[in-house]
This record gives sequence, structure tokens and C-alpha cells, in this order.
Amino acid sequence: MSTKAIKFIEKINGELQFMGDKSVSHRALIFTAMAEGASKIFNLSLSDDVRSTMNCLSALGAGFKVEKEKTTTRVITVKGVGYKGFTAPETILNAGNSGTTARLLAGLLAVQDFESEITGDESLQRRPMDRISIPLNSLGSKIKLNENKYLPIKIKPGKITPQEITLSVASAQVKSALILAGLHTEDGALEIIDPYETRNHTEEMLGILRVPVGLSPAKKMVVSKKNYPKAGVYTVPGDISSAMFFIVLALIAGEKLTVKNLLLSSERIAALEILKRMEGNIEIIREETGNCGRLGDIVVHKSDLINTEILPEEIPLIIDEIPALSIAGLFAEGGFLIRNAKELRLKETDRISAIVKNLKACGVDVEEYEDGFLIYGKELKEKGKFESFGDHRIAMAFSVLAALLNEGGLINDYECVSVSNPDFYKQLDSITVRGRS
Ligand code: S3P
Repeated sequence: MSTKAIKFIEKINGELQFMGDKSVSHRALIFTAMAEGASKIFNLSLSDDVRSTMNCLSALGAGFKVEKEKTTTRVITVKGVGYKGFTAPETILNAGNSGTTARLLAGLLAVQDFESEITGDESLQRRPMDRISIPLNSLGSKIKLNENKYLPIKIKPGKITPQEITLSVASAQVKSALILAGLHTEDGALEIIDPYETRNHTEEMLGILRVPVGLSPAKKMVVSKKNYPKAGVYTVPGDISSAMFFIVLALIAGEKLTVKNLLLSSERIAALEILKRMEGNIEIIREETGNCGRLGDIVVHKSDLINTEILPEEIPLIIDEIPALSIAGLFAEGGFLIRNAKELRLKETDRISAIVKNLKACGVDVEEYEDGFLIYGKELKEKGKFESFGDHRIAMAFSVLAALLNEGGLINDYECVSVSNPDFYKQLDSITVRGRS
């Protein structure tokens, strides 16, 4: 475990482009691996999490070749296996730190004709997997968990029967696992009722319609073999969750940040909308529709932020952005309150506890709740000493806070940033303007 020293940043100025969005990258790999024949993926994320998905899919028989490593021109060629073309892995599949890898692949493997086993690192072995096995097993699959809840999970050959199922967790990973299984429904369709709003990349990229049903925002998705992915070319827009840390830094420290080719699809911009409600000066200067969702360029200027109410239904859409938003909230006028966010305790680390501990260590008055926290007193220390708790988003959020403190700060166990953004510290350096005016 090493410690990173972050110096005070007077202001930032410049332009950034991010590796492909992590959620979209996982899906681009899974869909092209499932499809028959050759596909290409541009700007795939080469974060640790996405590499975990690539490694697992390789062990299942898909072929990947990284043609060019450079960020903006990176292209991956994929040799997909076609319907039911995956082969039994020779070893246990390792999802590393990635919940998306473990949960989406569990949905896919639950309907194959061979046995498989998935494990993950220490953090992932503490995250609940019954949210996947309970609905899938109710449809007919045979997934067995460790202590009824955790990885490693053992998956026996299985089939699901066409029926209707209602999601009981606001989770895009659970929804996607069911969709992946549903793509293998041969005589009929799996009808998924989703009472929540969560990121929708799986449906969008597979062209599955979300039809309103019952009380808003509930939607129904009819999933069958007809939606099985075909080979093609995917261009992954820049990762908005990675960009969020820099957007927050630009709003607080100034002066100006341009982010190009950023994912801007409606289910992923909730945190940007909240920052705008906080009077953040964020402008979309170009927008287009790509084959993996909306994307465009934004410009961010220093702003005097004012805290705003965050609604319960917004929480699932900003769940990954809460660490970054809490730094914006700390520098905004008024208290910053997060409630209805118990899910944060089930992420790479218990993010409520991690945020509260780090803020307290920096002299901030913060109250912890079972489902959130309130930041109210803001007497910041001159220098911070922060723990990442092995969580990439905690490391990046508190690196941003360290950069805003008069004497900077230290981040313990900072290397985990590579889980989503291996370029984080390089990017921070590239836009830093030093020297007090
Ligand atoms: C993800 C969904 C979210 C998010 C995770 C990525 C995805 O989790 O926190 O980082 O790619 O589907 P849940 O929606 O399952 O909570």
C-alpha cells in the first residue's frame, strides 16, 4: 500500500478526454463476445474492471486483440462465439474488483450448457450476490452461492422458462443479468417489469424497448432470442463517472475545463443536472447520438455552488457520483444531504462510512445515517490525510479534496484508481495550474 501526496492546486485549465465509459465498455465486450463473428470496439476502457470482463470472456472462448493501445485511437477486434458458442472455462473465472463483471456474467452463464464458477477479490467477496441468484433461480437457473450470499458462486447448466418477473432492487446490474439470461429464452420471452430508473445501457445497446406499465416510472421489457446481439462496430463515449471528479474540481477551483466526447445519455447525466441545480456553470457545447448512447463536449467554469435537495428517485442514477458530489456539496453554500442511499454501503467499500470518516479526519462536521449523511460544518484543516479503503471512487474524491486544501493532502492506498481510471493522476497533472495569484 503506498501513499500519494497531492499538492494544493491553484486552478485548472485545459481539455480532457476519457477512456470509454466503464459500464458501456463491459457491455460492448459482452455483446460482441456473444455475437457471431468479428466486431470492433473503439475507445474501450482499459481499466482494471473492464480487463476483468475481457479476461473472463477470453476464458469462455471469445477472442480479443488490442490493435492500438493509444487512448483516442484504441481499437479492439473481437471474435464472437455466436449463440450458445461459449465453452466451459478451464479455471474459476475471476471478476477481480468488478461487481458488473460478476453479476452480468452470472446472468449469461446461468443459461449455458456447462458448469462454471465465478470469484473475485476480497472486496467483491463481501458484496451481495443473492440479488442475482434469487431472481435467476426463480426462473429456473441453478446458481449456488457461498454462505447463501457471496462469491465464489457455482453455476450449473440451466435454462429459464418464459414468464414475467418484477425487479426488487434498483440495480442496473441485476436488470442486465436478467436481460442477458432472457436473451436465451427459446420458446417465448422473459417479461421484465422494472419499477425503477437505473442506467439503461443494456436495453439501449440491444434495442430492447421499455414500455410504460403500471405506476410511473415502471416499465416493461420483453426479452427473447430475437434481441440476441449481432456483430458490429461500437464506439464507446468517454466515462462520465471518471469525468465527474474533474468537473467538481473545475467548478470549485476554476478556471475552465473542457471535456470532449463524453457519454451524455439521459440516465447518466443526473449528477450533471444536480450540479447545474447547484448553480454550477456547465455547458454542453456539442451533442450527437452514437451507437452507444448520446455523447458530446462540455465546458465547465468556476461557480459559486449552492446545495440543493436530492430526491430519492435520483439516488440510483447518481450512485457512483455521490463521492464526487459530496466534495462539491462540501464547498457549496448550505448543508449537503444524502438520504435513501443505503446501497452505498454495498459498493466497493461502505462508501457512507468511508466518506464520513475521511471528512471527519479533515475537520468537517458530518452526521452519519444508515442510508446517507449530512455535511454541515465546514471548518477544513490546512492539510488532509485520507484513506481510500481500497475504493477507486473514494481515492479520487479525496484526491480532489486534497487538491483544494491549502497544504494539500495524502491519499493512502491510492493505486486502486486504476479500477476505473488508470489515467487519473496523469490527467490531474495535465490540467493543473500552480502558484497562488
Ligand atoms: C453498474 C451499475 C451500478 C453502478 C456500477 C455499474 C452497471 O450498480 O454502481 O458501478 O454497469 O450496470 P447497480 O445499479 O447495480 O447498483
